[in-house]
Amino acid sequence: MAGISTLDVDDQQSIATIHAALDAGINHFDTAFSYGYDGRSDRILRVALASRTEEVVIATKVGMHYDSSQQRILDASPNRLRFEVDEIRKRLNRDILELLYLHSPDAVTPIEASAEALASLVEQGIVRHVGVSNVNTEQATRFSRVIRPIVIQPPFNMLQQETVRSLLGICKDQACGIACYWPLMKGLLAGKMARDHQFAPQDRRLTYSIFQGENWQRAQDFLDTLRDISRELDIPIATIVIAWTLSQPGITTVLCGAKRPDQIRESASAMHAGINDDKFDRINQAIAAFQSQND
Ligand SMILES: NC(=O)c1ccc[n+]([C@@H]2O[C@H](COP(=O)([O-])OP(=O)(O)OC[C@H]3O[C@@H](n4cnc5c(N)ncnc54)[C@H](OP(=O)(O)O)[C@@H]3O)[C@@H](O)[C@H]2O)c1
Repeated sequence: MAGISTLDVDDQQSIATIHAALDAGINHFDTAFSYGYDGRSDRILRVALASRTEEVVIATKVGMHYDSSQQRILDASPNRLRFEVDEIRKRLNRDILELLYLHSPDAVTPIEASAEALASLVEQGIVRHVGVSNVNTEQATRFSRVIRPIVIQPPFNMLQQETVRSLLGICKDQACGIACYWPLMKGLLAGKMARDHQFAPQDRRLTYSIFQGENWQRAQDFLDTLRDISRELDIPIATIVIAWTLSQPGITTVLCGAKRPDQIRESASAMHAGINDDKFDRINQAIAAFQSQND
């Protein structure tokens, strides 16, 4: 919705999408200091939620921003984190942030220092709970020694499971949840892009290997299985993919991106899809076949 890494976003559609999400029973919204130049994501959320902010939990993240030449910068230094928190509180018009993530460790700040900055915000009552995103097991362990994250936010989808699998042990030890991002692999796993789909040259999805060459062809072969199951069940592919994601061990929240109301309705209907295990078994076999080709 913030329009930095995705094309064709439209604020009116974004607001309608947030309303459709609320109507579909979604009560958790994920934003970040860096989503949109100058806080576009926060502004859209604030306008869209208006009087309904008490119905939802907003998660936000600090430690990543865009500089004046619109280059992405990772800065998880304590002073920067505190500055971003204050900005977010103004943008969202909230004194207390319910869930604040470290968006990503940076290359120079020890993760313990970033964690201590977040811990001190909890002590001051400005932040209720903390989480951490884009960490490996070692970084998650070091973060947890300072303050226990209630949730870790890694990428996860049918074709990208390694990070979550490696974090399951620490999540169990720390009793923390996993809120996974990219469940639809940025739209690929919604299955609506045909094999001969022509991407706009400025579409940033083209920078990911899964959208290129042989990997794209293999992903399309995999999608053919999902297309068959979708036809058999008469359920959209995106719904099946989100239902599968929700059923995976350790996954407690699935962060579904959407630009339009119809997209979030399809994703949200996964909560009540009631798909049988034998369909998931078929999907798991297709995933194993996909993975064996990539080994
Ligand atoms: N912690 C982090 O570093 C991090 C990184 C990335 C994302 N996130 C979080 O995770 C959320 C989800 O990530 P994401 O939006 O990048 O990926 P995603 O959920 O895998 O993909 C969302 C995209 O898929 C397409 N889509 C969604 N529903 C669809 C449907 N029913 N039918 C067809 N297409 C559909 C839309 O793009 P098109 O219409 O263009 O195809 C949409 O923008 C983000 O909003 C963010 O909150 C966190």
